[in-house]
Amino acid sequence: MKAPDAPMFNTDISIRPRVRAFFTQAVIAVTLFCAGPAIVAAAETPSAAAISSAHPLATEAGFEILEQGGNAFDAAVAVSAVLAVVEPYSSGIGGGGFWLVHRADDGFETMIDGRERAPLAAARDMYLDKSGTVVEGLSINGPLAAGIPGEPAALDHIAAKYGRLPLTKSLAPAIKLAEEGFPVDAIYQRLAGFRLAALQASPEAQRIFLKDSKPPELDSLIRQPELANTLRLLATQGRDGFYRGELAKQLVEGVRKAGGIWQLRDLEEYKVVEREPIRGNYHDIKITSAAPPSSGGAVLVTMLNILQGYDLDNMDDSTRQHVISEAMRRAYRDRAQYLGDPDYIDMPIEMLTNPVYAAGLRASIRTDKATPSASLPGAVEQRSEGNDTTHFSIIDKQGNRVAATLSINYPFGSGFIPPGTGVLLNDEMDDFAAKPGTPNAYGLVGAEANAIAPGKRMLSSMTPTFLDDGERIAIVGTPGGSRIITMVLLATLDFAAGGDADTMVSLPRFHHQYLPDMVFVEPDMLDPEGSAALQSMGHNINQLEDTYGNLHTVVWDKSNNTVSAAADPRGIGSSKVK
Ligand code: GLY
Repeated sequence: MKAPDAPMFNTDISIRPRVRAFFTQAVIAVTLFCAGPAIVAAAETPSAAAISSAHPLATEAGFEILEQGGNAFDAAVAVSAVLAVVEPYSSGIGGGGFWLVHRADDGFETMIDGRERAPLAAARDMYLDKSGTVVEGLSINGPLAAGIPGEPAALDHIAAKYGRLPLTKSLAPAIKLAEEGFPVDAIYQRLAGFRLAALQASPEAQRIFLKDSKPPELDSLIRQPELANTLRLLATQGRDGFYRGELAKQLVEGVRKAGGIWQLRDLEEYKVVEREPIRGNYHDIKITSAAPPSSGGAVLVTMLNILQGYDLDNMDDSTRQHVISEAMRRAYRDRAQYLGDPDYIDMPIEMLTNPVYAAGLRASIRTDKATPSASLPGAVEQRSEGNDTTHFSIIDKQGNRVAATLSINYPFGSGFIPPGTGVLLNDEMDDFAAKPGTPNAYGLVGAEANAIAPGKRMLSSMTPTFLDDGERIAIVGTPGGSRIITMVLLATLDFAAGGDADTMVSLPRFHHQYLPDMVFVEPDMLDPEGSAALQSMGHNINQLEDTYGNLHTVVWDKSNNTVSAAADPRGIGSSKVK
């Protein structure tokens, strides 16, 4: 062995150029030889396809379409449509969503924005009474709560632009399930009970989703022949089958008769938008996530940029939970202050996703003491978006990827079905700030960015995300309203610490959203000592009785070309690798 300070080879500048060149090439050759096996071993295409979704019938439908020669994008159409049929409490063609896609051929990535938009007759104060008070339930129940659906247009767009199969093939599994029925599960039963009054208020929804005005028995079949017809129109005529013609007239007529404000023009003018995803880095992980009108990507990147300045792996549990909560608090404050529909407002996205900005936020965090939210420059209280969204993750054998999070907002959306259409309408209008500009408890004003305006898209928290550390790629997302982004954050931190698909979906969760000023913790997340430690730093702990979220992950490890997938154990979903 040479002494540590001895040169490995002669670096004398007098050495002749050809000899120097020889040495240089030799060093490169040795380096490449050593690195060679790793480079050669890094797979270019996955050894298997994988799908994880919130319902086994949707996961199966995705594989059925892959087996018919479809790609990940065709499978995404099939999975979305089946979820619309078998999870009417989560998403549907009366709703919308975001599909984050990666095309393997050329690495092209985009976010397909099929978010609902406000009807053209919508007004800023439409949910306020004469005294300016929010009328309870108006933005949640019935047709006045419904934004113009984006999912049918998005499915047509995905199939036409990215898929290989016609909609007649990719929608076939959903049409069959709508026609023949699917069995009621425990989640359906519980959520139908939770939304009983809203469903009972719509004769069509009551007939289809309830039995004798009550949640149906477990395993009884829910048949939706009208929805099957609507899906057939979409399959054979594309978006025009939904947004024009007889069906559009039926939708508008049904909505207006029941007190809603839709017009034919709302449907005709609905447009899918492709948006550049939000990008960031956390150590060596590239983050690709949802762009506005979702707040997901920007908030996720702000939190990760703040946390990048800490050695999280070597912190004790309480300090780690504390600094993560403080990062959440600050990023959610910015969410309320700045974010909304990019087609209507200017947003400081460059600033929010910039590590230098995050360093400033980090500097305001004490590692031993909580910062009261009231002491931060303020915005109004966060509204919690509905919990009953859905997510799925897909990779195909070419390496095409989809992370999609879809929603009709509250369980069973608005509870309203325009007669004869089978289309359960969303209540996504509730994701707008119903009363912006009003000082909050701290006398501070905010949320103007997310005020209602005709044709505007409401702010979302949906966070379909890709993580790429150069060796492993993860496709991640979850439902869970305003807690979506912190769930994706915790999964990302787990991935960064070497976690796999299983640990990412199952790890215990906690959440801070600036206001209310408290840390929400899942049961079993904190023991009494852990809870006391956070409280001694000044945190209010809200110990939840139930778990939350339904995260789905697909991981492709290129170093050994293995693909894995996991469905959240909190849900009834399934993952499959084949
Ligand atoms: N409605 C749930 C969300 O958009 O975040």
